[in-house]
Parts: sequence; structure tokens; C-alpha cells
Amino acid sequence: MFSKFVCFLVLFVTVLSSMAQPREVINFNGDWSFTLEDDLQFRRATFSPVNWKKVSLPHDWSIGFDFGEEYPAGNAGGALPGGVGWYRKTFQLSENDKGSHYTIYFGGVYRYAEVWLNDQYLGKNSNGYLSFERDLTPYLRYGNEQNVIAVRVDNSMQPNSRWYTGSGIYRDVRLEKRAPVHLLPAETYITTPKVSTEKSSVRVQSVLSQAASGKAGRVVLKLRDKNKMTIAEKTVLFSDSQIDDELQVGGVTLWSPDNPTLYELSITVLDNTNKLLDELKYKVGFRYFHFDENGFALNGEPFKLLGVCLHHDLGALGAAFNKSAAKRQLLIMKDMGVNAIRTAHNPFAEEFLDLCDELGFLVQNEAYDMWAKRKNKFDYHIDFKEHHIVDLITLVKRDRNHPSVFMWSIGNEIREQFDDTGIELTKGMTEVVKKLDPTRPVTAALTETNYEKNFIAQAGVLDVLGFNYKYFDYDKLPTEFKGVPLIASETTSALQTRGVYDALHDTIQLWPASSADKFVTNGNPDFTVSAYDNVAAYWGTSHERAWLEVKKRDFLGGIFVWTGFDYLGEPVPYPYPARSSYYGIVDLAGLPKDVYYMYQSEWTDTEVLHLLPHWNWKEGEEVDVWCYYNNADEVELFLNGRSLGRRSKTDEVLHASWNVPFEKGELKVVKIKDGKVVQEAVKKTAGKPVDIVVDVEHDRYAVDGSTDLHFLTVSLVDKNGTIVPDSDVEVSFLPQENLTIRGTDNGYQADLNSLSSPKRKTYKGLAIAMAQKNSLEKEAKIIVKANTIIKEIVIK
Ligand code: GAL
Repeated sequence: MFSKFVCFLVLFVTVLSSMAQPREVINFNGDWSFTLEDDLQFRRATFSPVNWKKVSLPHDWSIGFDFGEEYPAGNAGGALPGGVGWYRKTFQLSENDKGSHYTIYFGGVYRYAEVWLNDQYLGKNSNGYLSFERDLTPYLRYGNEQNVIAVRVDNSMQPNSRWYTGSGIYRDVRLEKRAPVHLLPAETYITTPKVSTEKSSVRVQSVLSQAASGKAGRVVLKLRDKNKMTIAEKTVLFSDSQIDDELQVGGVTLWSPDNPTLYELSITVLDNTNKLLDELKYKVGFRYFHFDENGFALNGEPFKLLGVCLHHDLGALGAAFNKSAAKRQLLIMKDMGVNAIRTAHNPFAEEFLDLCDELGFLVQNEAYDMWAKRKNKFDYHIDFKEHHIVDLITLVKRDRNHPSVFMWSIGNEIREQFDDTGIELTKGMTEVVKKLDPTRPVTAALTETNYEKNFIAQAGVLDVLGFNYKYFDYDKLPTEFKGVPLIASETTSALQTRGVYDALHDTIQLWPASSADKFVTNGNPDFTVSAYDNVAAYWGTSHERAWLEVKKRDFLGGIFVWTGFDYLGEPVPYPYPARSSYYGIVDLAGLPKDVYYMYQSEWTDTEVLHLLPHWNWKEGEEVDVWCYYNNADEVELFLNGRSLGRRSKTDEVLHASWNVPFEKGELKVVKIKDGKVVQEAVKKTAGKPVDIVVDVEHDRYAVDGSTDLHFLTVSLVDKNGTIVPDSDVEVSFLPQENLTIRGTDNGYQADLNSLSSPKRKTYKGLAIAMAQKNSLEKEAKIIVKANTIIKEIVIK
């Protein structure tokens, strides 16, 4: 088996090199060996990892564990362990490959990656959220000899985060082969100095590798539209290593979240004999924007940023990046009307930004959650002094060519806000960012609205001030920070469990009530929070309130709701066994909570009519019925055919509501516009569960074939197909052919069954699984079983 694997690799690398591309990017995610033991001997090329596990990257070892109270990250870190892990990979290169330049690229390793190639130490990387490269060229072996990469990953110092980080090589790894004369991607900077529908320009700055010095050649710049038609082209001669030139373009379509039109720029390097030396390709979006004290404008039009904050985990996959899972998250957000994302509070995978370019999201790209002053004992503050400038440079150079990225945030709720070291640090970091990218504003997410006390704001260099929470202070901001653009960089922190409905919905409850309590004192025994939008952490408020406060103030460029999705860790307001957050508009499994439709009714033109709660209660019980809707004058509720009255939203309340004594049957709401019923929605009392419905979603979230996931949603239904909300059952996902279950989930924050388990109890009638085909060409089969109900699903 092992020798077959080696043969395959030899073939793979040889075939690629015989294609003689100037720059070959070789996917290096497959066939790694992995162990959770720790021994420095593992770095040696001669070591043989006999009992190690075979893994594919991206890989997060923490997510495979059972949740536990004992782990030092605590439930704030997801109640999962860290530890030390080793990865090894063997590969061969042919004699013909000699003379090329090789680097290995790691998209992200949490944490403290140390890399060896053939016993040679290639150094340590301390920032777990940034990509890094190592030059392999001097230490490679060619011909029959094996090359061995060994990586030690150390996430043993805990706690080191306020949320779940994951552990391991959790993003892509690539081997890059280049000719000695090549472009340096980190030094390549693409901007659009002129943008209009009539006349635009693309400026290309880049640097060639040292091998280019003293050589002469040509660089061809080409801009192509989506049909691959060349719309601008220019050839420049190079005689030193710097490239700085501009392409002029007529009539382009502007990029915006509604219409994310992208162009492709290629930079091709040829030598004097016309031999191709290198080529880089970038996506270009033509857009311009402007912040001022009146708000934000995109492409010349006022534009409200309708944003959410996201953490980086992908639910049951943990931190292991998967582009189709990220696309699913983003499209669920898109359908809700989101046009902006804040990457809280660290750099995300580069592929996430590719998706934002393509799908149309403006990204506030955030660097840090802490500076020199810690939030956790072992967090980045220990590396801050030595690394924060270099890391910031890496971040800006890595991401500045993404049209989606529209601002940089140098920090979130940084402790140095409250002491004067904040001034110098803010100035220093802002200067670094501006030098590398003068085209985007720099901000920070602040928590203090008293100018005298906020040293980060007082540094006077931030282009935009972001304020978290404290909406009741919003009106003070324009006077305190005259002329400075403002955004609500973080709001809400409302808490909900999908499908849970408690009475007492008419006032906002604060869980915990104040800083005096760590946890809620009168919470639910099953660690749930009602999904009527009326519970929030004491520093937050309901979704409706937070949105209304931003909506009515034009001077606020926009809102970033905490959060779009539930995430692992930070399960305020409960202690363990709660292990994931309650803040999401969508649960950890990707299933929307009801308030999703409040946003959709406010932020889109999609026809919305959403009724809550479910209709299974005790006879006579008083039930609060809510309805989110848009595009109508009023809504009317009917119980078993009887009208319970018409209602409409107000300027201050974004839902209609009724108090209804329960009676089983059918609850129906109709939407009335100009006196006519234009839409209706129904909730029926569900009977006994007799069947499951399995929906498989793939095509919409597909990206590149090989790593795409199939998302299976199981609904537990009665004989009429109504979802049964109160008789949950365990579902087994049993792959029969050609399929691997990557994770399962039901969105319940205190479910202690491992997220990697192939079994999952439905929660309020729903559960999901994420599955991946082993071989793309063949069809896959899976049996989904719940009690005696068995469904065989074939995935083409
Ligand atoms: C904010 C913080 C976020 C998250 C949130 C929870 O203050 O910036 O990272 O902790 O609170 O409500």
C-alpha cells in the first residue's frame, strides 16, 4: 500500500513537471501522516511513522474529540482539547526538476508550526491565522531519494483564545514550483486608480525575484472580461526587478454586492527569447467607495453596510477549512440580505475572500483581538511585541488584492483603549497599513464612547471609528468625534436556540443580567434560550432594537451584527455543557433561527412571511404568535379558519404579534397588500413522527468538485409531512459506498455528542450531516436511519 502511494506521488509530480508550466501550484493536501504523540525524533527524514494515521488536509484534530469539561480552554474555547500534533509527508522530485525554485505554502496552522525538510529546520510560525511560506529549494533531493516534510504543531498552551481555534494544519498546503526568474506575489499590488463606467484604469505594481537582476525581458499585462475576451493589454520591458504600470480600460461594469462583476488580470513574464517565465492571475473588481460623517457610499450611491460578524469555524468541520462549507455560510447570509462581513477577530482563509469577491460581500478584514495586553493567559499577546508588525504586513500584502476587502481593522476591543500605550500602537499600525495600502480606510472596533478615555480613538489616525454596542450613546458620537466617519462595528449579542419558545417575550431579558454574574441565574435547565427575539447578554440587546437604532441613523455607515452564525465556544449565558454560542442568526448547523426572517424582511425584496412558533402546545395554553413580513400593509392571523385579527408592524416594532390560546389544528397568516391577500403561511399541529425527509444540497454550494460537500438535512415528519418539533429521535448516517461523513449537527448548543459522530439526534425535528464523496466519478450511497425508518440516498 505504502509503495503504491509513493509511485502515485512520483507520477503525480513528474507529470506536472513535464507540463513545463512556468509556475506550478501543486495541491499538497493529500497523503499526510499524523500523530498526537510528541517526540523530536519525528522530524528526522529517516524516521518511519508506522502507526500514524493517514489524513488529508485541511485537518483539525480537536474537532474529532468528545466535548469535555476538563480541557483548559474551557467551554469558552469550545470544550475541546488542544495538544501537540505532528504531520509528515513524503514526496519525490525528478532530476529534471533541478534548477527550479520550490516553496511550500501553509494557509494556516494553529498554532506554532515548526517545519523541517529533510532534517533541515525551516523555522517556526507563531500567528495561527496567517499563511506562511518556506523556501525548500536548497534542501531538496532529486531522483530516487525521498523528500520528507515534518511539521510539529503546538496548541498545548491553553487557554489562548476567547473562542474555538481548532488545532492543526487547518487550511490548504501547496507546493509551488517556479522558474528562477519569477514574480513575488507578496510584492504584487493591483489597484484601480480610476473607476467609472466610461473610463477606468488598473495599476500593477510587482517585483521580480533576484534572479531577474541584470536580465532583460518583457512583462505582458492583460485584462480579460468574464467571457475571457481581452479588453486591455500592454507589454512593458523590464531591465530591473520593479514593475509599475497601468492599463487603461473603457466601459467596465462596476463591482458591487448586488452585481459582483469580476475581471481577470494576468501578469506574464517572458525572457528575451519569448520563453514564458512566470504568470500570475488576479481577480479585479472596479468599485469606489467613500466614508464621511454622513455615512458610507459605494460607487457614488449612499449604501448602508448590512453586515454580520463571523468567526472562522465551520460548525461540525471545526476549523478545517472547506470552501463549499464556507460558500454555504455565505449564501445563507446573502439570501438574508447581508452585504458585508467582519472577519472577527482574525485573518480568515484566503479562499474565503475569493468567495467574497465572487459572491459580492464587502469585507472588514480584522487583524487582532488583543495587542500587548492579554485577554487570555497564552493568547497572541505573548508574541505581539516581536511579531505584530510583521504579521500585519503579511496580512495586508496577502489580502490587498481582493476587491471584496474594503477596510482594515487593527483590533477588536483592545485593552490598550484605556491606557496611553494605545496611542503609539494605533499610530504605528495604521502607518504600516497605509504604506502598504493607501486605498482602504483603517478602523478598530472600540468600546468606549468617552473620547477622553479612549486612547485608540484619541490617536487621531483611524479613518473610521467603529463602536461596539452601547446604542444609547450613538447620538453622542457625531459631536464627540466631529467629522469622523462612524460605524456600528458590533451590535446585538442576542441569544437564541433555534426552535425554543418560552413565554415572557414582551420585555428584553438580559442573560447574564450584569457584570456581577458570570452566568444567567434563572436560565432554562436544558441550557436553551428562547428564540423569540427577547434575550441578550447584558452588553447587548435584541436584534430588532439593535437594527432599528442603526437603521434610523444615516450617519452610521452600517451595522455588523454579532453574529451571522453560531460558532464553537463562547456559550454565554451558560456554563458547560453549553459549548457553542447562542449569538447566531443561524445555528451552528446552518439552520436559520426565526429572526433570520426579520433581517430578510428588512434587508431584501424577497417576499417574506414567516410565522412562529410551531403549533404543538397544550390545549388552552397561551401562546405568543409572531410574524415577520415585508411588502404588505398588514397581516391577518387565522386559527382553524377563525380570524384573530389584523396587525401591522410599526416604526419601532418589526414584527406582528398575537396572543393565542392554543387549540390544535391550523394556524394561518396571510399577507395583505392593497386589500388583496398576496401570500400565506401555515403552521399545523404535528402528529406522531412517522417518516424522515432527507434533502441533499450540493450544486448551489459546489466549488471545485474534489473537496465539495453534500449537505444532508433530515426532517422528522408526521403523516402529513409536518415537521414534528417535540419527539426528537436519533438519526444514523451510514455510508454504503463512496462517501465519508465529515460531521453531523443539530444546532443545539449543549449537545455533547461529538460533532464528528455519524449519529445525531434531531433537535426540534431537524439534523444535518456533511458528507464528502471519496471518488468524484462514481455515485455514492448512504443509508439514513431513524428508529425503523430507513432511507437509502443515492448521490450522483
Ligand atoms: C464582544 C466581543 C466579541 C464577543 C461578543 C459576545 O464584546 O467583541 O468577540 O465576545 O462580545 O457578546
